[in-house]
Amino acid sequence: MLTICLIVIFHFSLPANARVHHSHRELVGNDPDLIGQTCKNAEKNEANCTKILRGIPDVVRAKNYFDFSKAILEFSLKEGTAGQNFLKELATKNNASAIVDCANVHYNEVVGSFWSALGELKEDPETANYDAKVAGDGAVNCQDVLNAAHIVNPDINALNYKMSLLSLIAFLATNNLSS
Ligand SMILES: *[C@@H]1O[C@H](CO)[C@@H](O)[C@H](O)[C@H]1NC(C)=O
Ligand SMILES: *[C@@H]1O[C@H](CO)[C@@H](O)[C@H](O)[C@H]1NC(C)=O
Repeated sequence: MLTICLIVIFHFSLPANARVHHSHRELVGNDPDLIGQTCKNAEKNEANCTKILRGIPDVVRAKNYFDFSKAILEFSLKEGTAGQNFLKELATKNNASAIVDCANVHYNEVVGSFWSALGELKEDPETANYDAKVAGDGAVNCQDVLNAAHIVNPDINALNYKMSLLSLIAFLATNNLSS
C-alpha cells in the first residue's frame, strides 16, 4: 500500500512526458543491460565503469534503475567509508596536512554526499542525482591538495580515482530517475 502511494506521488510529481517515459521503463521491467546503458555514457571511463559494476552482485542483479542506483550508492558509501578509515589510519602515522585534510575534510564530503544521496533516492531523485555528483568533488579536492604538497601515494591516488569514478557512475545511473 505504501509502495503504491509512493509510486502515485512520484508519478504525479513528474511532468507528463517524463511520466510516459518512466511508465514505459517500468513496463519493460527487466532491462537487459543496465550496466552497458550506463557505462556507455562514462566515455573514456567506459571500460573501468563496466569492470567495477560487474564486480558488484547487487548491481548485477538489479532489474530497474531504482534498484541499480541504490546498489551503486550503497557500494559507493561502503567504499568511501573504508577509504576514509584508511586515510585516518594513515594520518596517525603521517601528519602531512594534505593527508590529514583528505581524511578529515575531503572524505567527509565524499561519505556525506553518498550518504545523503542514498537517503534522498526514493523521495527526491533529483537531489540524489546532485549529491551523487558532488561526492566526487571530495575525491578531486583530496587529490588537488596532495598534488599541491607534492605527495605521491599510489594507494590514495587509486582511492581518489575509484571514488571519482563511482560518483560519475552514480550520477549517470540516477540521471534515469530524475529526468
Ligand atoms: C582504469 O583503471 C586503471 C586502474 O584500475 C587505471 O590505471 C586506468 O588509468 C583507468 N582508466 C582511465 C581512463 O582512467
Ligand atoms: C608531526 O609534525 C610535527 C611538526 O609539525 C613533527 O615534529 C612530528 O614529528 C610529526 N609526527 C609524525 C608522526 O610525523
